[in-house]
Formats: sequence, structure tokens, C-alpha cells
Amino acid sequence: MLITGVRLHSYRSYDELRFEPCDKLNVIYGANAAGKTNILEAIYLCAVGRSFRTRRDSELINRSSLGAYVALEVISRGANRRIEFKFSRGGKQVLVDGVPIKRMGELMGVFNAVLFSPEDLSLVKDSPEERRRFMDMELCQLRPAFFYRLQQYNAALKQRGALLKTALETGCAPDPIELDMWDDRLTELGGDIMLVRREFMDELSTLARDINLRITGGNEELFTFYKPNVRFDDGGRDDVRTALNNALYAARNEDIRKGMTTRGPHRDDVGILLDGLDVRVYGSQGQQRTAALSMKLSEIALMRAERGEAPVLLLDDVLSELDRSRQHELLSSAFDCQCFLTTATADGLEDLPEMAVFICENGGLTREGEDALPI
Ligand SMILES: Nc1ncnc2c1ncn2[C@@H]1O[C@H](COP(=O)(O)OP(=O)(O)O)[C@@H](O)[C@H]1O
Ligand SMILES: [Mg+2]
Repeated sequence: MLITGVRLHSYRSYDELRFEPCDKLNVIYGANAAGKTNILEAIYLCAVGRSFRTRRDSELINRSSLGAYVALEVISRGANRRIEFKFSRGGKQVLVDGVPIKRMGELMGVFNAVLFSPEDLSLVKDSPEERRRFMDMELCQLRPAFFYRLQQYNAALKQRGALLKTALETGCAPDPIELDMWDDRLTELGGDIMLVRREFMDELSTLARDINLRITGGNEELFTFYKPNVRFDDGGRDDVRTALNNALYAARNEDIRKGMTTRGPHRDDVGILLDGLDVRVYGSQGQQRTAALSMKLSEIALMRAERGEAPVLLLDDVLSELDRSRQHELLSSAFDCQCFLTTATADGLEDLPEMAVFICENGGLTREGEDALPI
């Protein structure tokens, strides 16, 4: 996976920006608030269809403009592809190879990227929501069908929630037939989500374990696993559906009392153990960060294995948060991917081969020779 051209127009702090990255490491160097993350945000947008910083597309439009435009030229599986986003104050349009797509799912898998930001380093101790996002962001890119399922599940969850909330507010019991209908819908969609997440975590676990052993010099054994909110047997689709349907039914009174759906994959989590102990509780900050790094790096390996080519790696300001050995581990995985790295210091970049340095300042990006980096 290779980005050959980036163009931003009226996007965030940019009026007009065009640049051609190199195939290896691209360092985007600049002061705070210079606009470095804005560039990674626009690139990641083209992989997952939305910003990783906001749900509101209107924030992406330059404050003095009525619309914004993002275009990415990529080589994906040997073919030249073009992804475009056109934002207006009223909505957005996404084009792939010049053709408007009807559903966001059509974008999934066209271009793959893995993003690593300082927030990801706290993946271990963050809320379960962040760990669900960790699974889903990659799964959506790899499996468009998963993306649709998740969208439909969330829509159904909202409807069931509205029914329960109205019941709570009015004091009238909800129609059991209507509840049955929503339970069936959630069961069908949620069951598929649970199976895919489990398969994903099973594959990721081995990779993350190996990487963590490597970073810690063979000392610390990491075990990551899927922790579904509703437990299910190892069987297939029928088992998981039965378990979920029963759980929803059993929690019905509680759900009515609370005015929300308390069971299901929207409450899933990821378990993270180090030498058999919960890293959240017993791990030092360094161990928690290493575990997060291992999990993130294994996402790259997994994507490469599934897609047959490496994703583009986006590293947002993470180097300064890591010590030398972890910096080294991270950057060595960057060597065989195209990588975009933002930084405000030259720390850790001293001996890297094949990098292009872009200075980010005054609303623009200028490519410099390597010696421009003030090391
Ligand atoms: N919609 C917008 N219109 C104009 N400027 C924006 C918009 N959104 C963010 N910015 C500006 O972008 C800058 C932050 O960019 P960012 O990429 O996060 O910086 P950094 O280089 O620190 O990563 C800030 O100066 C902010 O005011
Ligand atoms: Mg930033």
C-alpha cells in the first residue's frame, strides 16, 4: 500500500496543500499546532471514512470556508486508486476512482492504514470503548461486511434504547412483541460481530505475544484475548446467537429499569494479561505501554498477512512518549511500510535510512534534505 499524492483544500488549517511522499519514512516536522496531525487525520479519513478526532465533519472544514476537499492517490494491490472527500456545510460526498460511492462500506479496504497516536499508548488502561475501537477500526478496513453489521447493530441498539427510555419516562411497560423484534435483530447482527471479533483477537494474540517477547528481551509474556460481554461456547453462529438472545431476554427487566440495553457486544472488552496477571491492575506504566505497542504492531502484521501487503503506518507524535528501545522497535516495523511520522523534536530519528523530511510551518509543507533536521 502506497500513497503517491496527497491534496488538501480548505481542510482544517490548510488553504491548499499538495505533496508527494516518498515510499519509506516521511517525517513531518514542525512546532505545536503547525498542522501536522491535520495531515494524518486526512489520510486516515481515506482509510476509515471518518476523522479519528471528531464525529462532526463540519470541524474539518477550514473556518473561513464553506467546503473542504481531500484527495489521496494510492497504489493498492498494484492498481492506481483515487479517493476523494468533498465536504460542504450540508454533508459530504466520497468518490472512489472518480465515482461517488453510495455507502461508506464501499470505501473500506480500498486503502488500508494503521494509526498510532499517544492515546493508543494508554489503550491498556483506557475504557473498554477504546479497546473495542482498537478491534473495530482494523476489522472495518479488512471486512466491509463487518462494517455494515456494526452500523446496523448500532442503529438497532439505538432503536431498542429509545423504546426502553420511553418506557422508563412514561412508566408504561414497552410492547413485548416490539422488544422481541429488536432482540432478534440485535442477536442476528451482534452474534456475527462477536464471532468476527473473537477470530480477530485469536489471530492477534499470537502476534502480540511474540512482539512483546521481542521488545522485553524474552522476559514478559503477553496474553490478549477477546472478552465478550455475553459469554458463548466455542460452537458457531447458532451458539453465539442463542447465548446473546438468552442474555437479552434475561436482562429485560433490568433494561427496562435502566432505560437502556445492558447486554451485548457494545459492552465487549479485551483482556490483557502479562505473565498471567491483569496488566491494567498490576502492570507498571512501562509495561502497559509496551503491551499497547505490541498490540498495535501486531495489527500491522495481521493486516499485512490478510491483505498480502503492508498498510500505511501513521505515527502521530508517539516517539517522544517512548524510550529508546521501544522507539527502535516501532521504527524498525516502519521500515517495510510506507510511514508518516509527525514530530516536534528530532529525538530518535538520528540514524534512519531513506527518509524524507517535510517541514510543516506557515500553513504549508516543504520538503527538505536530511541535513535540514536539527539533530
Ligand atoms: N476547521 C479549522 N479551520 C482552521 N484551522 C483549524 C481548524 N481545525 C483546526 N485548526 C487549526 O489547526 C491547528 C492544529 O493542527 P494540528 O494538526 O492538530 O497541529 P499539530 O502540528 O500540533 O499536530 C490549530 O492551529 C488549529 O487552530
Ligand atoms: Mg499533533
